[in-house]
Amino acid sequence: MQRPVRLGVLISGSGSTLQNLLDRIAAGTLPAEIAGVVSSRADAYGLERARRAGVPAVTVARKGHPDADRFNDALHAALEPMNVDLIVLAGFLSLFQPRARYAGRVMNIHPALIPAFCGSGFYGDKVHDAVIASGVRVSGCTVHFADDQYDHGPIILQGTVPVLDDDTAETLAARVHALERELYPEAIRLWAEGRLRIEGGRVRILPAA
Ligand code: GRF
Repeated sequence: MQRPVRLGVLISGSGSTLQNLLDRIAAGTLPAEIAGVVSSRADAYGLERARRAGVPAVTVARKGHPDADRFNDALHAALEPMNVDLIVLAGFLSLFQPRARYAGRVMNIHPALIPAFCGSGFYGDKVHDAVIASGVRVSGCTVHFADDQYDHGPIILQGTVPVLDDDTAETLAARVHALERELYPEAIRLWAEGRLRIEGGRVRILPAA
């Protein structure tokens, strides 16, 4: 039998995305293990979730590094001993540089339909506020391979939810989060099964073997 895919999960905050992956792995519905968690903030609640699950977790504080390159040197150094197959960005608010080491092996989830409402500054409720203010009738979430720009890279899966007349950022976020909880594990499963092929900036999903 193939060994479970080893995930390195990068967080900055509450870690609800991490928790969902931990729950799915515990339930036996995601063929993966969390090799380690790296947080860009020492006070991220996700660190507590990792500890409770017995997963190695470290902090590499963005604040402790003078620039993005030195910060990424430290992230890569923290990840190296974890021996991960796939990097999963899970509410990570800084820019992770895949570099040659993880090229094509970094995934991100964004709570809107890329290429709209994304990029630097579009995180948390700011995304949903902008979606509502624009008047669009649908939003959703996007799982994509990440490159070294914010919310950018070949799209793996997208799902949609309606934007309702009386939505607030909170009600829309809840609807989008429910979808995120399905789509991220599904994308990781497809990757683990070797079914994602990047071709000319697009992702082809291969049929199940
Ligand atoms: C989600 O909206 C996800 O799309 C975004 O971060 C949010 C979750 O944060 N990337 P967390 O996992 O609860 O820290």
